[in-house]
Amino acid sequence: MDNLTTILESCKLEISNALTMQQMYDIRVRYLGKSGELTTIMRTLKDLPNEEKPIFGKKVNDVRVQLEALIVEKESVLKEAEKTARINSEYIDITEPAKLPNKGNLHPITQVKNEIIEIFRSLGFEMRQGPEIETDYYNFQLLNIPKDHPARDMQDTFYFSDNLLLRTHTSPCQARTMQAKQPPIRMICPGKVYRSDDDATHSPMFQQVEGLVVDKGVTMCDLKGTLDAFVKAFFSEDTKTRFRPSYFPFTEPSVEVDVTCSVCKGEGCRLCKGTGWIEVLGAGVVNPKVLDDSGIDSSVYSGFAFGMGIDRMTMIKYGLPDMRLLFENDTRFLKQFN
Ligand code: DAH
Repeated sequence: MDNLTTILESCKLEISNALTMQQMYDIRVRYLGKSGELTTIMRTLKDLPNEEKPIFGKKVNDVRVQLEALIVEKESVLKEAEKTARINSEYIDITEPAKLPNKGNLHPITQVKNEIIEIFRSLGFEMRQGPEIETDYYNFQLLNIPKDHPARDMQDTFYFSDNLLLRTHTSPCQARTMQAKQPPIRMICPGKVYRSDDDATHSPMFQQVEGLVVDKGVTMCDLKGTLDAFVKAFFSEDTKTRFRPSYFPFTEPSVEVDVTCSVCKGEGCRLCKGTGWIEVLGAGVVNPKVLDDSGIDSSVYSGFAFGMGIDRMTMIKYGLPDMRLLFENDTRFLKQFN
């Protein structure tokens, strides 16, 4: 009987000290298992006098029932605690903002090019492309710039040979388009051009967009209306244009187009050198000789054309002080266009 009491007390203590389900399993085996303490003590039953046997047997059974109940109760407490611990450790906060992957963005020149294309597309212009390696014929002669013409000095050309060169402007696309199709023509040609030039506002490779419209009765008015609509869409609704007389061999009359400064809105600042105006492009009414040479009858049709630098438009739009920023590929700069 004393042993039984000792077993009961020590088992109770172990149960109350147990911290894991594994410990509970060990306790169960040690006290209630096949060779556990209670089973062992039950084997002494046969050595007792007959009248004590039922009393002792009942006592052992009571202890077994009591321990069984205590073990089950503690196990359920531990199970619950282990479940809570697992839920806490596996908790996912679905409201936490996700980690975003590093995302690149289009180069500012590409963004501006796309924007220019989109505006002219909405005005009904189709997009065409021409080769970057051109012949003298397309780059100059068909544009009314014969050999030894002084206008060749306006552009510092990279020559491969007497006849082959890196195009100095996108204007050869005009001639190629007119040779390829009859009016009505309404096209833009964006692309890379090359000149032997390198400073804060010039790069040996830069990009232009050429525009050409040829149809019956096209005049300077159409040129002004189209370019005005373009700069308002590209810069802002309150942008004004100014047309200054100029000279290009392929247009007559020729103009240079200024817009009110995008930074100071015409007040005068560093970007516009205090004038309130910034030159954005060259344009004009297509020289009849250029139409005729490319196979379009200038007595029936007339047209206007323009050419602008995309890099230059980017600098003006964002007030960039140095064109070289656009070519250094410094991500601290490029990221600002995301
Ligand atoms: N090709 C000229 C240049 O690169 C720009 C230009 C001026 C294009 C007048 C035109 C134009 O189509 O009509 O400087």
